[in-house]
Amino acid sequence: MREVRHPGKGDRDLVDLGMVSDIRLGEGRVEVVLAFPKRRDPLAEYLAGSARAALYRGLPGGTEIEVKSVVMEEAPKNKRSNVNNLTLEEVAQVRHIIGVASGKGGVGKSTVAVNLAVALARLGYRVGLADADVYGPSVPLMTATEGALPEAEEEDGREVIFPIEKYGVKWMSIGYFAQPGQALIWRGPMACNALKQMILQVRWGVLDFLLIDMPPGTGDIHISLVGDIPMEGAVIVTTPQSVALADVEKGVDMFRNEKVGKKIFGLVENMAWFTPAELPENKYYIFGKEGGIRMAERFGIPLLGQIPIVQSIRESGDAGEPAALSSRPDGLAFIELARKLAEAAG
Ligand SMILES: Nc1ncnc2c1ncn2[C@@H]1O[C@H](COP(=O)(O)OP(=O)(O)OP(=O)(O)O)[C@@H](O)[C@H]1O
Ligand SMILES: [Mg+2]
Repeated sequence: MREVRHPGKGDRDLVDLGMVSDIRLGEGRVEVVLAFPKRRDPLAEYLAGSARAALYRGLPGGTEIEVKSVVMEEAPKNKRSNVNNLTLEEVAQVRHIIGVASGKGGVGKSTVAVNLAVALARLGYRVGLADADVYGPSVPLMTATEGALPEAEEEDGREVIFPIEKYGVKWMSIGYFAQPGQALIWRGPMACNALKQMILQVRWGVLDFLLIDMPPGTGDIHISLVGDIPMEGAVIVTTPQSVALADVEKGVDMFRNEKVGKKIFGLVENMAWFTPAELPENKYYIFGKEGGIRMAERFGIPLLGQIPIVQSIRESGDAGEPAALSSRPDGLAFIELARKLAEAAG
């Protein structure tokens, strides 16, 4: 537990902070109880996840590991002081909350979300982006903000977290609370709470758009997220292969099913064609030409835009300087996409 540091407490470790209140050993089993001085430590979920990860690293494979969190003092009454009691106060001044989703992983959701955010900001909108991928956060790398530590403050008995501002966008990611290279291991409900905190406990202020970079898939986390965050709707990212069709269907259904009834602002066809840097006029439709349009027609949603595969999009993502900052054709494609989304959102 000495390996687990509390970023909100000058990086002191859990032992030093007196937070390890109990360690119970059983046959092939370890249980650690962490004690939190107050109910609403914004890092509680993160610390429990880190403690679990440290135990997995340090103990023989197959050991059953449990990390429990307890609160040392009862929170005073009438305070919204429980993770499950997050209020919608911090997103009250956000005009459009829009999820960027897909049924399938690796289609370029994060790339599209980050560039869309930067492009909307370049068009003059006030923009925030919450990275809801608690297992594999991408925003710190894609914006070169790794190592940034968001400030947290207690206000009227509530903890608020301040986003990191760069490129005219307010960013928030669970990655800011992890040690570099540290894998985050979460159990389902904890992951859900952690990521709701990354959205609802953040002082976004007045925004035109809050984009949510959704984790890959269409599981429980998604359903809970769509239900608990007042999202207006979603942008669905896909690649043109016809095999992606079933995944798009899942992605669309997640928002558009009867229970949820959210809007789909449109489809973004990523990797629509390949353009080599030395032949910028050439388009090679590696996965076929009409895939995106046909998909959009089939689901009765607009095709918001098409983004080519170009090396510079990947490179600028890895370098933390989103392509949308440039005036290259790939940068302009994101600006055009942002304009279409703003138009669709109204
Ligand atoms: N249009 C593009 N041109 C070139 N490379 C791209 C393009 N879109 C995405 N990539 C690259 O593809 C990889 C995957 O993209 P990204 O991380 O955005 O996908 P994702 O859908 O968010 O993945 P995950 O499901 O893991 O969250 C990254 O290396 C990214 O730089
Ligand atoms: Mg991603």
